[in-house]
This record gives sequence, structure tokens and C-alpha cells, in this order.
Amino acid sequence: MASKLLCFGLLSVLLAYYIYKPLPDDIEEKWKVLVLDAAFRTLGHAGSFAELLGLKHYMDVLMLLTYAEYAEPTSDENVTVSDTTFNNIPVRLYIPKKSSDRLKRAVLYIHGGGWCLGSGTMMPYDLLSRKTAQTLNAVVVSIDYRLAPKFHFPTQFDDVYSVVKYFLNENILKKYSVDPRHIAVAGDSAGGNLAAAVAQKQLNDPEIKAKLKIQALIYPALQDIDLNTPSYQENGNMPILSLSLMVRFWSEYITTDKTLYEAMFSNTHIPREKADVFKYVNWSTLLPENLSKNYVYSPQYGNSEFIKKYPAILDSIASPLLAEDQMLNGLPLTYVLTCMYDVLRDDGFMYVARLRQAGVQVVHDHYDKAFHGMLLMTVKPLDLDLAEHMTEKYLNWLNDHL
Ligand SMILES: *[C@@H]1O[C@H](CO)[C@@H](O)[C@H](O)[C@H]1NC(C)=O
Ligand SMILES: *[C@@H]1O[C@H](CO)[C@@H](O)[C@H](O)[C@H]1NC(C)=O
Ligand SMILES: *[C@@H]1O[C@H](CO)[C@@H](O)[C@H](O)[C@H]1NC(C)=O
Repeated sequence: MASKLLCFGLLSVLLAYYIYKPLPDDIEEKWKVLVLDAAFRTLGHAGSFAELLGLKHYMDVLMLLTYAEYAEPTSDENVTVSDTTFNNIPVRLYIPKKSSDRLKRAVLYIHGGGWCLGSGTMMPYDLLSRKTAQTLNAVVVSIDYRLAPKFHFPTQFDDVYSVVKYFLNENILKKYSVDPRHIAVAGDSAGGNLAAAVAQKQLNDPEIKAKLKIQALIYPALQDIDLNTPSYQENGNMPILSLSLMVRFWSEYITTDKTLYEAMFSNTHIPREKADVFKYVNWSTLLPENLSKNYVYSPQYGNSEFIKKYPAILDSIASPLLAEDQMLNGLPLTYVLTCMYDVLRDDGFMYVARLRQAGVQVVHDHYDKAFHGMLLMTVKPLDLDLAEHMTEKYLNWLNDHL
């Protein structure tokens, strides 16, 4: 009996030790956050182990979470939900039931997951799209593009763009009773990256007549050339998205070649002859002083092997922050959401600064007590109050402006 108790006690201590990690004081509902983070970390460890043994690619193990969170396309009293394909790309469609003689608005939604993971059919994304359709009385198209490591850049973008183009066609908009003047593209994390790239590309696409009215970028990844911004330096160990995982996502988007991962991890994948691109991500000028002041901006250079082999590294479709000012100038009304404890925080801040300099109207919601992936933390029992609040604020803004 005593030994059983001792074992139980010991196991509890070990479990608590495993789950526990110090979090910033102002993060709320800490135990829920720790449990969520421990779940991600465990899957990450399993992935590394499986990869080490040569059994599975790291991302194939992480994909288990995507499958585990699958939600059937279920209609409710307000929204009709169905799975279909647009241009052979799977999409989940949310069509409001409320009848009206006016045309509807529409949101093209792109899920996150580092270009490697995730699906619009996961419970938290399904919830968000449903809420979007209901709050805005809008048609929502949630896009399931192909993922790395099986597919690399530009497949993810091309799939998304192909759906966008299909949907923005006059006849299709008519079919779904959508007003061509009231359409937004939105996405979170890697989806925010793809949304920003879509917004740029559609501007000068003569085949697209119905131009987007809004881009909404939720803690987006926007550049791969400096993976050592202050937010990378400060938040490499925060919940859900670690620095090493983000670097892994970037490198997998471009190639499975591990040497690129290593160069990106040491931030030495850009050669000196391309030093001029750093002006687009000069965080000593683009960040508010209170976020950059403790650091010295000093881009690092490596050899030119990587950009020769992988020109995608410098492609503005992969890194929308690398677009010229003239390109940014025409972009639609923009919503950017950033979180303090997120490696991608400074990507968002820098894009806001560059867009404003280029004359684009930007609304920026920054959350001091939040971390990456917050909008997914809405599934009970591990739902966070702040996540609900952020979602509501974002959707109310979209409802008022689209
Ligand atoms: C449908 O909409 C009504 C009115 O907005 C709301 O009260 C109800 O909860 C919604 N139903 C679902 C399943 O979300
Ligand atoms: C970044 O901006 C600072 C201040 O304007 C400037 O001195 C520095 O040369 C810039 N760095 C790069 C790489 O553009
Ligand atoms: C720094 O600036 C951001 C954005 O302007 C603000 O939200 C934040 O509260 C500031 N942080 C500190 C520590 O002053």
C-alpha cells in the first residue's frame, strides 16, 4: 500500500514537472495553457523520436492532431455546411440559412499549421468559420490546400490562389449570391502568410475582376530572411509555437533538405550580396521602440548556396514583407492581429509599419497577454476567455467593415 502510494506520488510529481514550465506572469488561465502546451510538446517529442528512428517524418506525427480534431461537416439551424472542391482543391463551405433579398458578403479563410499541418475541417477552424458565417451572414470558403513535407512552395500558395480565382469568378459569385464588392481574405499564422500573398497577387491579376475589399492577417508569418527578430529572441520557448518549430516550418515550406533548416536556425541563409533585402525587415526602424530597444539590429550573412538552390527564400509570395512599396500601395483595408508572446509578433508589427508607410489603411489589434495560436483555444474544456474575446473582437470588426 505504502509503496503504491509512493509510486503514485512520484508519478504525479513527474507529470507535474513535465507539464509545468514557467510562463509570463500575465498569461491567464495558466493550467489550461500548460496542459495544451504539454500536449503539443509530447507530440513534438514523439515526432522527433519517430524521425530519429527513421520510422516517420516529424510532421507526419504532428499531423495526428489534425486528424484527431476532425469535425464532420454538420449543418445547424443557422448555417449549411458542406465539403466540396473548387478547381479540384477541397474546401468546406458555410452558407448562412437566413434568407434576404440582398447579396451576401464572403470570407475566404486559410487555416494555419506552418504549411505542414492543419485543416479547415479541424474543430477550432470549423467553429471559427461557422461563427464567421453566422456573425456576418456571409458565405465562408475554408480552403484545404496541400501540405509539406509532401508538397513544397509554391504548391500551398497555388492551391489557395486557384480556389480564390475560382470563387471570384462572376458566375460563381452569382451562384452563391455573393456581392463582388464585399469579399475578404483571412488567415492565421501560415494561413495569414498565404492570405497576405493572395492579397498582393490579386491586385495585378487581370483575370480577377472582383478585387478583395479586406485582408485579415491573424498572427501571420511574413518573412523568412531574419529569423532572429526581437520576438524570435524573446519568445522561442513560449506555448504552442517554439522558435525551432517555426524554423522547421519555414524550411519545410521550401524544402525537406535539413541543411536549409540548420542554416535558417543559425540565421545564416542569406548571403552578403543580398544585404539590400534586409531593408524590408529592418526592425530597428520598423518596430515600436519598446519592442526593439534592448537589441542591436545586425543582419547575419552566410554563403550564397541556399538562395541559388532555393530562390523561394527571397520570393515575396513566400515572404510578403519583401514586396516593394509600390506593390503594397494598392492593398485593401487591412486587419492585423499580433500577440506579445509569439515569435511572429514582429513580422506583424513590421508589416503594419510598412503598409502604413505605403498609404494602406491598417487596423492593428495587439494583445499583450496572448501567445501564438490563441484563436484555436476555443474548444471546451480547454477554452480560454481571452481567445473568445479576441475572436469576438476580430469578427465584430470584420462585420462592421466588410
Ligand atoms: C442560431 O442563431 C441564433 C440567433 O442568432 C442563436 O441564438 C443560436 O444560438 C444559433 N444557433 C447555433 C447552433 O449556433
Ligand atoms: C536599418 O535602419 C537603420 C536606421 O535607419 C540604418 O542605420 C541601418 O543601416 C539599416 N539597416 C539595414 C540593413 O538596412
Ligand atoms: C509596447 O508597445 C505595444 C504596442 O504599441 C504595447 O501594446 C505594449 O503594451 C508596450 N509594452 C510595454 C512593455 O510598454
